[in-house]
Parts: sequence; C-alpha cells; structure tokens
Amino acid sequence: PAHGWAARADVVVIGSGVAGLTAALRCAAEGAKVLIVTKALLDDGSTRWAQGGIAAALGEGDTPAQHLSDTLVAGAGLCDEEAVRTLVTEGPDAVRRLIATGATFDTGEDGAILLTREGGHHRRRIAHAGGDATGAEISRALVEAVRAAGIETIENALVLDLLTDADGRTAGVTLHVMGEGQRDGVGAVRARAVVLATGGMGQVFSATTNPAVSTGDGVALALRAGAEVSDLEFVQFHPTVLFLGAGAEGQQPLVSEAVRGEGAHLVDADGVRFMVGQHELAELAPRDIVAKGIMRRMLETGAEHMYLDARHFGARMWEERFPTILAACRSHGIDPVTEPIPVAPAAHYASGGVRTDLRGRTTVAGLYACGEVACTGVHGANRLASNSLLEGLVFAERIAADIVNGLDDGTLRPGEPAPAGPTAAGPTAEAPLPEAPVRYEIQRIMTAGAGVLRSADSLSKAADGLRRIAEQAREDLRRDGKTAQPCVETWEAANLHLVASVLVAAASMREETRGCHWREDRPERDDDNWHRHIVTRLTPVGG
Ligand code: SIN
Repeated sequence: PAHGWAARADVVVIGSGVAGLTAALRCAAEGAKVLIVTKALLDDGSTRWAQGGIAAALGEGDTPAQHLSDTLVAGAGLCDEEAVRTLVTEGPDAVRRLIATGATFDTGEDGAILLTREGGHHRRRIAHAGGDATGAEISRALVEAVRAAGIETIENALVLDLLTDADGRTAGVTLHVMGEGQRDGVGAVRARAVVLATGGMGQVFSATTNPAVSTGDGVALALRAGAEVSDLEFVQFHPTVLFLGAGAEGQQPLVSEAVRGEGAHLVDADGVRFMVGQHELAELAPRDIVAKGIMRRMLETGAEHMYLDARHFGARMWEERFPTILAACRSHGIDPVTEPIPVAPAAHYASGGVRTDLRGRTTVAGLYACGEVACTGVHGANRLASNSLLEGLVFAERIAADIVNGLDDGTLRPGEPAPAGPTAAGPTAEAPLPEAPVRYEIQRIMTAGAGVLRSADSLSKAADGLRRIAEQAREDLRRDGKTAQPCVETWEAANLHLVASVLVAAASMREETRGCHWREDRPERDDDNWHRHIVTRLTPVGG
C-alpha cells in the first residue's frame, strides 16, 4: 500500500470506548507514547450508549464467586472459567479506579453506590450513572482524563490493516483519515504494539442498538492479519429494543434491562405476562431466554412486537431513574408513564471476537484486543448483562500492564514493516472493494438468514447471498478494470462482508442451539459434539 505519510508511537490504540481509553490512559501513565485512533469522534462509540450499567460485586453480601456463578450460567457452558474469575475478582477494584479517574455513579443518601438488577443476575449488582446514562458518564470521564493527560488522538480515521515485520510481528497500522481527500488520506503509523478496541459489529444486521460506526472493523483487520477469531456465531439480541416498525433500519433505541430489573413486565397484546413460568427469573432470565420467549410469543400470535409495561413506576420514577429512555420513547410518540412500550429484539452484542489470552494478547505478536472486539472467554455463548463495560475496564488494565512490561524488557521492539509482508491495506483482485450500498444488502441478508432464529436452510441462503456480493465485486473489477473507489464507506462494506461471511460459516457449522445461537432445526444443546469453540484463522494475503 502507498502511504502518504507516517507517524510513530510506542502503542497505537484503535477505538475510544471504555476499553481503548482505559488502555491508553494506563499505558500513558507509565510513560509510553500512545496514539489513539478513532473512526469518528472520541465519544462516538458504543460505550456512550450503554444504559443499564456496569456489573461488579460491590454490594453488601455479594461476592465475586456469586458473580462468577451467574456469568457461567449465562455463558451456557462455553465461558473460560479462569477468564471469568479474573473479571469478577479484579472487577470491583477496577470500578473503584474508574471512579478515581473521575466517573460519578449514582449513590444513596448514605453515599453507597446504588445497585440495580438485570437479566441473569441473582442479586442487585449493577452500578449506574445519571439513572440510565451510565455509558455517557464513563465516556465523559475517560475522554476528559485522556485530554488532561495530553494523549495524542486522531479522530475521523479508519484503521485499515496491521503492518507486520518480516517475522510476522506487529510493526504498526495503515489508516485512512477522512476529510483529507480519498487516497491522499491513507497513511501509516509505526508502533511496537497495537490495541484493537474497535467495539462490535451490530451493523451487520438491519436493526441494532449499536451506533453506525460498529462495522466489525477490528475483527476484519485481525482476520486479514491472520489472527484467530472465535465464537462469532454468538450474537446477542437484546430483548427489549423500542419497536419502530418492521422495516426500521440502523441504530434503534434501547430500553434497558434495568427497567425490568426495577419491576417492569413483559406482556403480549392481551396483557398476558408470557415469561412467567418459562424461567424461575421470569422477565429477568438471562437475555437469550427472554429474547427467545419474546420471539416465540411473536410467532405464536403473529405479532410484530411485544410490550414492556412499566406504567406502575409513575411519572416521578420514570423521570428520575430512566430519563434517557423516557425521552427516547416520548420522542417517538410513546409515553411509558401512560402506555406500555412496544419492544422487539434487535442485534446488540458480539460475544465472540478476536481471540485473546488473559493478558489481552492475540495470536499475532504485539497485537492486542480488548472490549467487544475481543473474545477473552468471559462471555461464552451468551454475555451476562452489564459484564461488557467491566470486561473493557479489567482487560484494558491487564493489556496496559503487559505492554508496559514488553516495552521495558524489549519484547515489544520496533519492527520494520515488511514491504511485501502479510498485510493488505486496500483491495485485491481476490477481494475487490464492494460498492458502499452493499452494506444494506448485507444487513438484509443477515437479518433474514442469520438473525435471532436460524436454520441450515436460512444460513445457506445467507451464505449464497454473501457469495453473490463477492462475485459481483469481482465481475465489476473484470468488466471495468477497477474496483469501487476506496473510501471509508467501501472499506466498511468490505469489513461487514468479511465478518458476516465468517459469522455465517460458524453459525452453519454449529449444529445445536446454545446461548444466543438459536437453530430451529437443531433445538437442543448438544454437549457431546459442541462443547467447544469454533475458531477461524485466515491465511494473510501474501503470507
Ligand atoms: C441494558 O441496559 O439493558 C444493556 C446492558 C447490557 O447490554 O449489558
């Protein structure tokens, strides 16, 4: 790839949610030269949208062991127990350090942190801020801390690919800075370590709680660089997303589980509480069970959505405890104080991602992954509610410690990017860039074939649809002698296509129902054959 310009840092952090900003702050605090690169603005990622809160054993009588147990149950047999133990044991202190960094959580009159409940948690364990604006407060505090620490940032820049040296070790990244023209905006940053903290891939589906920037860029980069990716079939659908019509596309307003945690009921059009009797925790069962319960009732009754009824909270509680959700509902003409909220499941969280160890190392030397982009093993087949902000915090601190050690002892040494090395910024004849509107085609294909409810048939149709898109791009290249214009939208479409293809392949392979992977043609969990992970590793171009 042609690099218009080059910069240098010890560490490049890609992404600016809780994971990326925490990793950057902790590395910089130890003297590392850190550069944060983010696709939009510093606070534009998923963290800002988190409502319910952050789970940690902070309450009286709660213990990491109980948090461990709830996490393992939700993960449906596929959590890495050591990773979960690390998360729940180091979690409470990580939250305290976040508070010391400047985040303010809601507290009671006695000054103790207020804790709420969410699905799958057997006790009140979720700390929240501004009622239902937890992510916004965390984002505010971390962005301020990053600015105060003077950490260099590049906003509006899409990282394209990893640069590696002749030994296959991380040597930096290529990136496309927007607003600097098209090809002219492509440059490179040389670095000794790269932290992927790019968030999720919810935009693979038509309706998602994720912001527009969540296009699976980090997983796509890791795949192209030959890193291992695991558990992509486990896409979590949030049960209660405000229903704005069957054709609604893009980011949809979330109605936090904390609303159910505080006593809201799920009801059908006749007012029947259909989750009662399905699980001992009823509306507060783990998320996959509630999403399935809603979908089943929708199929049984032919309805497009169910309802969340919290009229009994009254105006004051709605205004004080859930101001964000109240405003979102009212802006769409629904008043939760006087009417039940129409809700349906929508894509919410990628439980899988780039495979890491407990230090956040991927299988490529010098490349780390943290937060939703990573698969540390803490989520298994279904993430427990509000464990994701915590994962971002805990593993970012571990990554920073490992990087600082590696910089000190020379394990992370500066490398010379190999000119013809196993990296591939930009299109190739085998994988030309698709046109930007392909994004919507991918979303429709994935929603129809690889959504909440899957089967061999639906997945095979999805695979065919994705193959046709790739063939079309190759045909366009043959016919016109050129690929789609490289720009952020076409690169995003290419990333979505790659992660969607790997997701569909994994979902087709897993012939069972487990956690948030629901196969209507294989309705049972099959521990004899499928108590294992599906790991994908691509051979890097030129590698
Ligand atoms: C919510 O507030 O319901 C989201 C919590 C989560 O996804 O962890």
